[in-house]
Amino acid sequence: MEQRKNGLTGGVSDALAENMKQGWADTERHDLEPIAQAPHTARRRSALSARFPGERLVIPAGNLKIRANDTDYPFRPSSDYAYLTGDQTQDGVLVLEPAADGGHLATAYLLPRSDRENGEFWLSGQGELWDGRRNSLTENERLLGLPCADVRELAAALKEATGRVRVLRGYDAGIEAALNDKVTAESDEEFRVFLSEMRRVKDEFEIAELRYACESTARGFEDVVKVLDKAEATSERYIEGTFFLRARVEGNAVGYSTIAAAGPHATTIHWVRNDGAVRSGELLLLDAGVETRNLYTADVTRTVPIDGRFTPLQRKIYDAVYEAQSAGIAAVKPGAEYRDFHIAAQRVLAEKLVSWGLFGDMDLEKVWELGLHRRWTMHGTGHMLGMDVHDCAAARTELYVNGTLEAGMCLTVEPGLYFQEDDLTVPEEYRGIGVRIEDDILVTEDGNENLSASLPRQADEIEAWMAALRA
Ligand code: GLY
Ligand code: MN
Ligand code: MN
Repeated sequence: MEQRKNGLTGGVSDALAENMKQGWADTERHDLEPIAQAPHTARRRSALSARFPGERLVIPAGNLKIRANDTDYPFRPSSDYAYLTGDQTQDGVLVLEPAADGGHLATAYLLPRSDRENGEFWLSGQGELWDGRRNSLTENERLLGLPCADVRELAAALKEATGRVRVLRGYDAGIEAALNDKVTAESDEEFRVFLSEMRRVKDEFEIAELRYACESTARGFEDVVKVLDKAEATSERYIEGTFFLRARVEGNAVGYSTIAAAGPHATTIHWVRNDGAVRSGELLLLDAGVETRNLYTADVTRTVPIDGRFTPLQRKIYDAVYEAQSAGIAAVKPGAEYRDFHIAAQRVLAEKLVSWGLFGDMDLEKVWELGLHRRWTMHGTGHMLGMDVHDCAAARTELYVNGTLEAGMCLTVEPGLYFQEDDLTVPEEYRGIGVRIEDDILVTEDGNENLSASLPRQADEIEAWMAALRA
């Protein structure tokens, strides 16, 4: 099914070219309703408009990226573009044009439908015959609730534009090139930071999406537990593939590369090769999240005994992480410092490690002061969650890690302990054991809600849950 750049393999006769112009039905849809997200995207655009009065704001969705030769990675729009439009079309660009009343006029620049008359429909690389029907600009106006225009004319128009412009960089090289002499790295960075900060507090639509992402993810974890025998017969890939099936059927995809880490692979924090053996008697650390069709992701980890029963040592380490996570979750509430949950969880881990004699006779306060416990728990205890798994990553420190929690924020709480296989400072039987437990916690008016609570966390409950699924 090769389609050469300048036409079809083997050439095209005039008769075929003429033939292809005719005989197509009018498929324009006149009964489309706005997407459910439209009132929310309008409000988000208003907030952006208020922050940058008088400036032209350009937010691209991004373009396809080559995987190899003439194959591309699946397209996924920039989160900020999707957040502000509800649209997911490749090459789309949202432009907020300063308006006379001091606000902005928003326009989504998109590819229109393919023209049958000039052959674009079946001859061009962006033809609908090859890639599928697109919405017409009018259809998109109805769906998105904002004016739409042809994106192929945008770069030239931007080149001519006067006045202050800011662009979200990193997604569309063509648009950036068109704006080259009108933007500065500094003001674009300020723009990127504001967009990231806007997304810290989730609206109702977003919370519903995150809730669904967690529910679907829980079903994906159950799918995995049911096929652990097949994973034992093959590899960690069976686990990754099983979860991916759930993510593709119920959502858009996985929100990040699944970590399916069996046995000692659990001690590699970002184990995504997933090509190892799955063995009875060892633990499986599964860190995976379904991304919904509106692009909100869960980020959940469970560490489970592959044969359904923790050994006493596995349970001792698991219980320590469980206690640390419980302390971390309890510290999530409005008005708390963002760092509180991290400190609460780390403190429990340090206490446990000291009580197990891993620091000789050094006392807890000294270990804590020197941060020595971190040898076995290197990563932070959590992060904001939303459209990006590490959401709001460009937000300023004072509004994120040095900030205060507010109702509507969503974050992960995910302590872990990891004893590397070659760590001679721990008893031999600890080596190769890694445990992480991760849940997605919504800050509410009076505390928090664990959105991933339908998956058991406590060791006995994990064993009972696994036994029931495999009965
Ligand atoms: N799965 C990536 C993380 O937990 O942050
Ligand atoms: Mn995770
Ligand atoms: Mn995480």
